[in-house]
This record gives sequence, C-alpha cells and structure tokens, in this order.
Amino acid sequence: MEVEIIRLDNEGRGICYVNNIITFVSNALPKEVVKIKLIKQTKKYNIGKVLKYLKTSPERQSHFCPYYGKCGGCDLEHLTYEKSCEFKKTNLETILKKYAMIDKEITFIKSSNPMYYRNKITLNINNKRKGFYEEQTHNVVDINYCYLATKAINKIIPYLNMPSGQVVIRSNYNAEIIIDITSSSYKPIDIASLTKENKIVGIIVNNKIIYGEDHFIEIVNNKLFQVHSKSFFQINLDIASQVIPLLKKEVTKEDVVLDLYCGVGFLGLSIASEINKLYGVEVSKSAVMDALLNMKINKITNAKYFLNKSEDILTNLPDDINTVIVDPPRSGLKEEVINYLITNQNIQKVIYMSCNPFTLARDLQKLKTSYTITKIYGLDMFCYTKHLECLCILKNIVKKTELKCKFSKIKKNQVIE
Ligand SMILES: C[S@@+](CC[C@H](N)C(=O)[O-])C[C@H]1O[C@@H](n2cnc3c(N)ncnc32)[C@H](O)[C@@H]1O
Repeated sequence: MEVEIIRLDNEGRGICYVNNIITFVSNALPKEVVKIKLIKQTKKYNIGKVLKYLKTSPERQSHFCPYYGKCGGCDLEHLTYEKSCEFKKTNLETILKKYAMIDKEITFIKSSNPMYYRNKITLNINNKRKGFYEEQTHNVVDINYCYLATKAINKIIPYLNMPSGQVVIRSNYNAEIIIDITSSSYKPIDIASLTKENKIVGIIVNNKIIYGEDHFIEIVNNKLFQVHSKSFFQINLDIASQVIPLLKKEVTKEDVVLDLYCGVGFLGLSIASEINKLYGVEVSKSAVMDALLNMKINKITNAKYFLNKSEDILTNLPDDINTVIVDPPRSGLKEEVINYLITNQNIQKVIYMSCNPFTLARDLQKLKTSYTITKIYGLDMFCYTKHLECLCILKNIVKKTELKCKFSKIKKNQVIE
C-alpha cells in the first residue's frame, strides 16, 4: 500500500495511518510517499516496512553503512547530521513539555566528529556471527565494521574467532585497546599478530587477564582518568570534553559538591579546582578505585569517595553539601535521591546529566516543585542514533526567595530566632 509519512515518533520512525491505525515505519521521513507492507498488526498500532520510495525528502541522505536497516545501531543514518540534531532537539522539547510541563529553550551541542566516535562497543557472538542485535530481536547481524566505533576498535573485530559469547572492546585517546571477552567457547586468539598490528593494553577472558593489564588511561581536557575494563566512561570524548566548560560555568569556590553516580570521577574531578570540596558516590568497586587513583594522579586534594548505592548513603553524608551532580543510569533517580534533593534545605544547585529524556522528564516533574530549571542542553553524545544525552541546571531559588522575604520582614532590634 502507498502512504505519506506525517511526522517522526520519538524513536525517529516515520508515522502514518493505515485505516486510521497509527503505523510506525523505520527509515521513512516526513512528507515522503512510500510503498509499505505491514509486518506487524495489532488493534492499537501497526509496524510497516518500506518496499519502495515513491517520493523522497530533501532531508534524506544515503546511508554510509552497509548494515544500515539490518543492525539496530544507527536509527537516524538516513537523516543528514544537521537534521538528525534538529530532530533530537525538537524531540527533547516535546518530551519535556508532555511529561514534565517544561517549556524551555534547549541549547543543542553537536559533535564535531559524528562518525568513529564510540570508544566502546559490545559485540554479541552467536553461531560464529559477530555483531549487534537486529532491532527489537536477539538475532545477531554479522558485521565486520562499525562506522560509529573508533578506527582502533574496528581493527580488532576481524580477530575475534570464538563461536559464541560477548566481547567488549574499548579504545582511548591514544588508540590503545582493551578487549574483555566472556565466552564459554573461547578459542585462543592470535595475540602475536593482534599485538603487532594494534596497541593492545590488555586482554581479559572470563574475568582473567590473559595479556597486559585490565585498565588504561583516558585523557579529557588535560585531565587523566584511569578506566578499568568494567568501569563506566563516557563513550564520546568530543562531547564529554564539551560538557566540562558547561559545568565550570555553574560552580563557584563556595560550592561543596556531591557527585552521585560518579563512575571514575570524570565530572567531579574535572571541576574540582573550581570548587571548595567534592564528595563522590559510586556503586561499582572498580570505578571507585579508579576515582581514588584519578584524584591522586591529577593532584586533587579536596575530594573524597564513597563506595555505595547513592540511594543508601544519603542519611550519612556530610551536611555542608550545597551542590549536587547526578548522572544516573537510564532508569533515572531513585525516589530516595529525589526526596533528598527536595527536602535538603542546604542544596542550592542540582546538575542533572541524563542519557534518557523520559526518566529525566519524570524526575524533573518532581524536582521542579523545589527548583527552577535555568538551563537545558541536548548533547549529541550518540550521533546518528535515536539516543540523546541531556544536561539540566536546576537552582533552588524558591528557598532563597523565602529567605529574602524573611529578612525583609525583620524589624530593627527584633530578636531573631
Ligand atoms: C551514566 S554513568 C555516569 C558516570 C560518571 N558520572 C561519568 O561521567 O563518567 C552511571 C554510573 O552510576 C553507577 N551506578 C549505577 N547505579 C548506581 C547506584 N544505585 N548508586 C551509585 N552508583 C550507581 C554506574 O556504575 C555508573 O558508573
């Protein structure tokens, strides 16, 4: 059947209607006329697949990846990079309006290199097919190359020869590589030629180091970060480096900063010289150990770290904290963290970094009872995919205003309790 695409949904799929039922079509853009077949039909919605493009959009670009449409990685590769950023910005605005009643201008930060940016990939291997999962399935799409991963990572893919398992490949600023393999059918890889052709720092198989070390050094904005193979690190160094000046603008020497979900300390340590004190909280042991070392190698003396879940430590934290950075996983903030931010009268600023606009909107809806959202950034950390990183600055002007009112009512010689 022939349909015209009306708009994009928040995953970047084209939307049209077939017999008044909403129909989602991947790789189809607004105003395009396409011939589709329905591959899934329910009472509420259909999924359509493009068979032929009858009229194409000027915003379309021909995709650069041979696996596009098969591998579930790059949902937006058929849009020019400019247009994909416009789409993500509008999408974030819509989500914040719809789920948090926030109507605010968003500053969008693009990546200066939207290809070859990912410094970590996880390849699934099944029946000798190695690659990423097809969209919405666990079928592995066999790949030899990924245009989003760094060139150093791409050089490693052909060496992986086990019939099944999972392989995490990471690279750093200097194209050094760590390979972390989990496989019950591991077949020894050719380490001699692998290390001859590549800067291999370490190979880990089923949690045992079989070559080199299980960590390397990453450098962002002249700061050094040790990163263990199991610790989190921001996957796009260009965007990560652009975030730090945005944070620096928001802090002062008076600030005692709590960095919740701190990972290897990236956000907090990057601004440590601009603030009074820093406390970090992280649940992963390897990441906290990295953070402690990172404090030392960067000669930072005003930081302390706690190994714990953010939600479990809140009642035992120092009470001089007046600024909180939160950078939670996709699931967003736990109720305990939100209550802490809302009820703690000392907190004047919250810096919320999020990789999921939906849980961000859910949490902001609650936080905005105590804070005013002063700035929202969309950060294109995951170029050519539907995913978006966000940064929000929240200020507790409610409490300050209350304080001002209180002071203005005080009369000369009044006893103040
Ligand atoms: C999105 S990463 C952010 C890391 C860090 N802020 C950075 O910029 O590199 C989220 C981090 O939260 C940690 N994490 C997950 N659940 C947690 C919890 N309940 N409490 C504390 N940390 C947690 C993860 O191990 C991960 O390091």
